[in-house]
Amino acid sequence: MKIIIEDNYENLSHKAAEVIKEQIGQKPDSVLGLATGGTPIGTYNELVKMYQNGEIDFSEVTAFNLDEYLGIEKKHEQSYHYYMQEKLFNKINIKKENIFIPESKPKNPEEYCKWYENKIKEKGGIDLQLLGIGSNGHIGFNEPGSDFKSKTRVIELAKQTIEDNSRYFNSEKEVPNKAITMGLDTIFKAKKIIILASGEKKKKIVKKIVNLEQTEKIPATILKKHPKTKLIIDKAANTKDLVSN
Ligand code: PGA
Repeated sequence: MKIIIEDNYENLSHKAAEVIKEQIGQKPDSVLGLATGGTPIGTYNELVKMYQNGEIDFSEVTAFNLDEYLGIEKKHEQSYHYYMQEKLFNKINIKKENIFIPESKPKNPEEYCKWYENKIKEKGGIDLQLLGIGSNGHIGFNEPGSDFKSKTRVIELAKQTIEDNSRYFNSEKEVPNKAITMGLDTIFKAKKIIILASGEKKKKIVKKIVNLEQTEKIPATILKKHPKTKLIIDKAANTKDLVSN
């Protein structure tokens, strides 16, 4: 895992957007894996700027999102469908038919998860996956204890995740308790991965990911054996003993 330390959130966001721009420059029909949450917002803002300046063309790009709450209305402001439209898709020239986000109310969730997994394969697999890290080490909604071999599936959210995400809802009770998430194996199969962590509150988990052996107790540690993963953090998320390598 290559570690890149940026001075602040703005630089981290710019760096992540540069990696995505470079990927699309090399392969205009890239398949991107995209994430939601607070951390990638700056990256999406940068990508929109780059698009407006004519530096990126998304017309051939396909995007698969990592996850979505189960049972939420797509038009709900906290749904990941809403988030992606607002933060990125409405502002760039990606084709509607090339956007894939897990359904929030699939008729048959198990069948649907298989369909999603197969769709990723059918499109040739993910070229570049963007990830955040939950404070409990989750990636996507693969909560601690998730099998490293897991595929896209329904998962129950961890208490910590519900607590962390309650800041976006009126109360903790409103946070859906289930989601559909790409699996850890689905994520691991991406050809390249960038994983972002910003701010003090990610310090502890970053340190664990870097220092501990692979363990299913901390899902993000699966990436330690991924050949092309870049962990991009800002100074606030650094414990001081990490250096860029
Ligand atoms: P955050 O979430 O970016 O809002 O901190 C990260 C995650 O849960 O993956």
